[in-house]
Amino acid sequence: MSIAALARAEIRNLRAYQSAAACDHGLKLNANESPVATGTQNRKGLNRYPDRRPARLTRTMAAHYGVAPENVLVTRGSSEGIDLLIRTFCTAGQDNVLLTPPVFDLYQVYAAVQGVSTVYVPLMAEDNFAVDTCALLRACDDFSKLIFLCSPNNPLGTVVPKNEILRILGERASQSVVILDEAYIEYSDTDSLASLVLEYDNLVVLRTLSKGLALAGARCGAVIASAGLIRLLDSVLAPYALSSPAIASAEVALSGTQLALSKAAIDQTIDAREHLFRELATCKAVEHIWPSQANFLCVRFTSLDAVSRRLAAAGIAIRTYADDSPMKNCARITVSLAHDNERLVEAIRSVA
Ligand SMILES: Cc1ncc(COP(=O)(O)O)c(C=O)c1O
Repeated sequence: MSIAALARAEIRNLRAYQSAAACDHGLKLNANESPVATGTQNRKGLNRYPDRRPARLTRTMAAHYGVAPENVLVTRGSSEGIDLLIRTFCTAGQDNVLLTPPVFDLYQVYAAVQGVSTVYVPLMAEDNFAVDTCALLRACDDFSKLIFLCSPNNPLGTVVPKNEILRILGERASQSVVILDEAYIEYSDTDSLASLVLEYDNLVVLRTLSKGLALAGARCGAVIASAGLIRLLDSVLAPYALSSPAIASAEVALSGTQLALSKAAIDQTIDAREHLFRELATCKAVEHIWPSQANFLCVRFTSLDAVSRRLAAAGIAIRTYADDSPMKNCARITVSLAHDNERLVEAIRSVA
């Protein structure tokens, strides 16, 4: 059975919106655009719609991720990919998605927006917050359409081992789509599993230009999956989803020169992360730090209240978690430039 058969019937039978065909050299009278090309904005071609899907950017991203263009759908950040997957596969009031908390909150939010229930299989706190693969597989039922795995995980920075991912893919073949969110993979010493979508039709990999490629403001990410699954998601994604300026910025971000600059910045962040880890480990207020493969550290404090108050007074924002979560007394702290990290350490060190 094709994995596309798991999608909602309405989506499988959808007649996708037919947007106006591109017309590079002729007279374009098919999209009700303004013909006026005066003024600084319009001289950049912004009086015209962008391509329905950015073909050149799709090819560039495919080459960057080691797959074919038909395996890539360019989206407005990977956030949009998460929403698209839930809307495409999950019927409100019937289907469920599996999550492994503590994990990126947006999966749960988009599931709730679609009226889809969430089945939680917590990471094993006693085992360095590893995924409980046996419990996860046991928790699946006939309506478990999507399984979200985040590697490196937000908020812990830990990586899900490849053999666990392969086991889940194998055991849920033809039954669930396994989504591997690799938003932070550039900061990790493990390889992306993007090319495995050619072998496993129930695997979807999410990538983003927002983190390692330093382009959060342009809103650009990619869903990487089998060609059949990409065609299905393509029919749901809004036409002209990416604006022309976003497409242009993303193309620059993926050019050789800019990639080399990003690689240097990523290496610098990794070094800064390890330095920050060592510095924080010497602070009295710090109880535990998880080794991280991302651009942040997850830290448990003896008193998060005291640390939060001191950091607020110093004008430093960190991400904290509710007291009733397994992340009680923990904070996720983004690794920044050396002088910012020093400011942070200084403030935390001053908490008795
Ligand atoms: C794990 C994870 N996935 C996805 C995203 C979404 O990123 P974007 O929509 O900017 O690509 C984030 C953002 O923080 C994240 O932490």
